[in-house]
Amino acid sequence: MSKYKILGYKGPYGNQRKREAEGRSYVRYKCGPMKTIQDVLKQRPGWLEVKEEEWDFHWCEVSWMRDNYGHSSLEDHVRICHFGNHYELTRKNLMVKNLKRYRKLLERELGPQEATRCDFFPCTFDLPCEYHLFVEEYKRNPGSTWIMKPAARSQGKGIFLFRKLKDIMDWKRSRSRAEDPRDEAQVESYVVQHYIENPYLINGRKFDLRVYVLVTSYAPLRAWLYRDGFARFSSTRFSLSSIGDQYVHLTNVAVQRTAPDYDRERGCKWQMQQLRRYLTARHGEPAVDVLFQEVDNIFIRSLLSVHKVIINDKRCFELYGYDIILDAELKPWLIEVNASPSLTATSQEDYELKYRLLEDTLHVVDMEGRLTGREKQVGGFDLMWNDGPVWLEGVDSETLGSSLCTAKANTHLGCFNNRKNQLRQLLKPFSGQRAT
Ligand SMILES: Nc1ncnc2c1ncn2[C@@H]1O[C@H](COP(=O)(O)OP(=O)(O)O)[C@@H](O)[C@H]1O
Ligand SMILES: [Mg+2]
Repeated sequence: MSKYKILGYKGPYGNQRKREAEGRSYVRYKCGPMKTIQDVLKQRPGWLEVKEEEWDFHWCEVSWMRDNYGHSSLEDHVRICHFGNHYELTRKNLMVKNLKRYRKLLERELGPQEATRCDFFPCTFDLPCEYHLFVEEYKRNPGSTWIMKPAARSQGKGIFLFRKLKDIMDWKRSRSRAEDPRDEAQVESYVVQHYIENPYLINGRKFDLRVYVLVTSYAPLRAWLYRDGFARFSSTRFSLSSIGDQYVHLTNVAVQRTAPDYDRERGCKWQMQQLRRYLTARHGEPAVDVLFQEVDNIFIRSLLSVHKVIINDKRCFELYGYDIILDAELKPWLIEVNASPSLTATSQEDYELKYRLLEDTLHVVDMEGRLTGREKQVGGFDLMWNDGPVWLEGVDSETLGSSLCTAKANTHLGCFNNRKNQLRQLLKPFSGQRAT
């Protein structure tokens, strides 16, 4: 159990016992060693943890998918929290490969203007295979800063910044020492990427956004955006003269919490609502609306870039954690998409956010069969794409045209999360229904 608690909670088992007494059936679940989701599942009325291999719902780790998915047959009614080849979007090099391919396709089919709608990821090369292309680009941009990142690691591990090619010679040498260069399969993939040198700063500090997107189907694409999220700040003032200092440049909590001046009580986060208010006060509502539309565009385009690549399986869903950086011009940049966004809480406030996010994820996945399938909002999740854009109530999609324009989209990132009332309304008619 996590050390944090949801206040006012009456205990998990009363409701389950009642259900049992009434002859209701349970949802049998399994869960990996992730604290907050374990709490949510334990406390969900009508759900019971099982150890054996017969389960209805599995919140598994990606390693479980690698070892098991496709090797054993799963019944039709079960649900698991990853798609088999989720890495097409969540491995840094593959994400960029898919985005580049999608951009080319748009250019070919809809023209160069439409292709510019994909210009939200920094110039990136896959190493070692694109090393020569990188060197050409490097020479075209003398003096700029680059960031080197392992393609499949997380939490800031193995990342460093550089400006001179000779600064990556040590990295190249250590790789050829550690691994046999004749065996390509053993060489760890890296990406080298333009470093965003002008991030938007608040109190002189850099931050990035963590936003949650839930995909319940790839064919057709069905994606939901969570209203809450947060900005993760670095604890040290931003400066380009200290490119070796990870506390300045990497905003991962795993990095920042080891900083000498890290505030354990308050952490280094702002809620998305606080950030949206701050930006609105400084830049006005129209500019901030445009910014958040651009952020929506990132979600949609990135998902469309893999929508034909990811093998759809109606038993799978995925809760992605997007990392986005704003630059000083208020332009959002996609940094990466995480398949296993951290669910560990760093404060009571953070615990409550992740708890409601996970509760609402389970509401959308709907093992209990309470939804009609026509909902545009479930708890804090707004349906953003349903085989096409989803518009706000009252907006006629014909007037807006059928382009991928996400203006007036049904999204409310950083807006008030009215989930409690919404869920009360939504689930009311079903309060007496049998769980299935
Ligand atoms: N191109 C970039 N420009 C500026 N900052 C970056 C860039 N790429 C990564 N960062 C910083 O480094 C952090 C870690 O990078 P990320 O790609 O998310 O790797 P990880 O999987 O280790 O989290 C980001 O949260 C961000 O603060
Ligand atoms: Mg990251």
